[in-house]
Amino acid sequence: MHPDYTSLEFGRPPAQGDSSTGAGAQRPYVITNMVMSADGKVVLEDTEQGLGSANDQRLMRELRVHADVVLNGAGTLRKSGTSSRLNAARLTALRLERGKPAAPIAAVLSRSGDLPLERAFFRERDFEAVVYLSDAAPVARRQAIEATGRPVHLVPDADATPSMVRHMHDELGAELLLAEGGPTILGQLFARDLVDEYFLTLSGVIVGGGTPTPVEGPRISTLASIVRFDLVSAAVNQDDGEVYLRFRRPAGAAGAPATS
Ligand SMILES: NC(=O)c1ccc[n+]([C@@H]2O[C@H](COP(=O)([O-])OP(=O)(O)OC[C@H]3O[C@@H](n4cnc5c(N)ncnc54)[C@H](OP(=O)(O)O)[C@@H]3O)[C@@H](O)[C@H]2O)c1
Repeated sequence: MHPDYTSLEFGRPPAQGDSSTGAGAQRPYVITNMVMSADGKVVLEDTEQGLGSANDQRLMRELRVHADVVLNGAGTLRKSGTSSRLNAARLTALRLERGKPAAPIAAVLSRSGDLPLERAFFRERDFEAVVYLSDAAPVARRQAIEATGRPVHLVPDADATPSMVRHMHDELGAELLLAEGGPTILGQLFARDLVDEYFLTLSGVIVGGGTPTPVEGPRISTLASIVRFDLVSAAVNQDDGEVYLRFRRPAGAAGAPATS
């Protein structure tokens, strides 16, 4: 079975009260998407390349149809390069029909400001892009990024991910944020209870030791406070030996520990 993600429907983010995102603050609905080997790894040789099939790649681009912003961590930008391109005329046409710009805004989050300024993310102009940079980053690096013409938004180091998603909502008008990794960024988003849906492609590849899982960083669940997402769908693709999983944060779930 080859699912079609272009017609998915998404909910709204939970009401933001007095949480760490600030009283009354709003944020986009946040979905994540990763491909993982059968032994739970997301990197093969330095990047995710080789883990997923062409169908996995198609689903990744189909999720982009819904997104206002596509986010990656600086680690992924350095290793793989990132963009928000759809690379398919039919997907671009769907976005335009739905009143969206041809491609989502590409975003990256960095603390060091050590970014590969020669990459398409900075040099190409067929998609918009923004950089979220910790206020702890060296000024010279911030200036070098700004010199590429891409806007830089400073976020407080201790509150980076909530500030970033708030800015996406309030200043970029984002209603749906697609976080495509890597594992450090997903860990930061889960740690601040900012993930509404988790899409995962399970591939038949066995990687072995020494590479990360989809969510790294702080512990998210403990025995005393298990965060159990609801399974929304599971589609089996026998041709490529993959399973496509969609999980959703349960309504009213207690928040994960607010560590950064
Ligand atoms: N299988 C998949 O689907 C998939 C998807 C995406 C990526 N990947 C793989 O994952 C690997 C990269 O993962 P990763 O975990 O090393 O990197 P990452 O999550 O892409 O990015 C981590 C970086 O984000 C920045 N960052 C994270 N939290 C921050 C915060 N609170 N404030 C400011 N900046 C923050 C830091 O950038 P600075 O270091 O610049 O400070 C940090 O080093 C690559 O090999 C890539 O191929 C796999």
